[in-house]
Amino acid sequence: MKKAFYLETFGCQMNVVDSEQIVDLLHQIGYAQVPSAELADLVLLNTCSVRDKAERKVYGHLGRFKPIKDLRPELIIAVGGCVAQQEGERMLDKVPYLDLVFGTHNIHRLPELVQQVEERRRRGVETDFLDRETRLNLFPERTQRDSVTRFVTVMQGCDNFCSYCIVPHVRGREISRPSADIIAEVRHLVAHGAREVTLLGQNVNSYGIRDHGELSFAQLLEQVNAIDGLQRLRFATSHPKDLTDELISCFGRLDKLCKHIHLPMQSGSDRILRLMNRGYSAGDYLGKVEQLKKNCPEILFTTDIIVGFPGETEDDFQATLDLVEQVGYADAYTFLYSPRIETAAARMPDDQPPHQKQQRFDRLLELQRRISADIWKKDAEQVLPVLVEGVSKQGQGQLFGRTDWNRIVNFNGTAELIGSIVPVRIVKVFRNSHLGELAAPQ
Ligand code: SAH
Ligand code: SF4
Ligand code: F3S
Repeated sequence: MKKAFYLETFGCQMNVVDSEQIVDLLHQIGYAQVPSAELADLVLLNTCSVRDKAERKVYGHLGRFKPIKDLRPELIIAVGGCVAQQEGERMLDKVPYLDLVFGTHNIHRLPELVQQVEERRRRGVETDFLDRETRLNLFPERTQRDSVTRFVTVMQGCDNFCSYCIVPHVRGREISRPSADIIAEVRHLVAHGAREVTLLGQNVNSYGIRDHGELSFAQLLEQVNAIDGLQRLRFATSHPKDLTDELISCFGRLDKLCKHIHLPMQSGSDRILRLMNRGYSAGDYLGKVEQLKKNCPEILFTTDIIVGFPGETEDDFQATLDLVEQVGYADAYTFLYSPRIETAAARMPDDQPPHQKQQRFDRLLELQRRISADIWKKDAEQVLPVLVEGVSKQGQGQLFGRTDWNRIVNFNGTAELIGSIVPVRIVKVFRNSHLGELAAPQ
């Protein structure tokens, strides 16, 4: 009988891609995926440690598996991803019923590690960082998935060391993947049904700059844009300091590149941006936004913002609110600052009371909700091209897809539309999605 595994993924798109690899590797050693831990011989958590809350969630989830392990001691429990990388051996001490901890550079070793635990009933830890060459050789072959949209990793790791951020510590140094491999992968995915790809990295804008003779990110976009059968192209995430004129010029010029950019600003205060080690001022940021709007007037922006960074004053916070108004984001992911082990900001004096941070957070959220609502309500009654991704969880007979601006639209339709771009009239605008109805082709 086949063995069964249960996998839960937290965190960002990097972890989503890593989990695809975990699934493929476990299939290779005879495991089939099941939808609940109760049915599994092996449970895995692919974890995120970007904020304290994310990290605590991991321990909460592990606690849920304990009663299952008490009943079935042969159950193997494994933790991978960024918390595993950060904690390593310590995790085995903290969680006595945990069997295996594997880091962000060690996913390829999973089959061997699982088999070792199976055979010898020994607890395992593998969190060594690997060198550049080894990592480049370890990019997995991407297998077919029943999915219209796919992520394609173009670079891994991060060298920016923003003072608040754990990512460089848990993902290691930045490497760019050879452009020929990326292009071959996109072709392969398109040949197997993908219609949209998102090129992925912590800072895609610095793609290739460390590798002599490699394409720039803008040139890479151009080449991917030319692939037959691909309909839409996106990328994430962009660091404003590395957003070049060449890259800005791709918007409005490359026909498949969607008119949306996620451009994390983090703060609107120059003083805080310096303390964050972001490498740009609010003026630089706004300049790039203006240039993007000029090249592509329909472009929409989304962003990440941290509230309550150590030493943030009311003036600093007001500067953030001002920048939010000036840019007019379609959406913003807002976070309360969370001190992270080993980061520079964790050592900065922070005397702001938590309730004040929370108040600022709520003010920002309120402002952003108003701006988002104003932007999205303009879609009402419009007929927009929607790339149909699948059957909606909302209700029977409903499909879901996205507009060029990455807005989710639910609408009635039949499954043969999946994978096509269809015209949809927007009939209702909700906070996080649109409701639409199929329109006659224009
Ligand atoms: N590489 C991406 C971001 C990765 S982390 C980039 O540079 O844009 C995603 C977001 O989490 C960040 O943009 C930041 O807004 C937030 N974040 C990271 N560390 C944080 C911390 N210590 N506390 C609160 N938010 C944090
Ligand atoms: Fe973190 Fe900054 Fe790197 Fe983004 S660019 S992953 S925020 S260190
Ligand atoms: Fe979280 Fe790791 Fe991504 S810390 S945000 S899963 S790189």
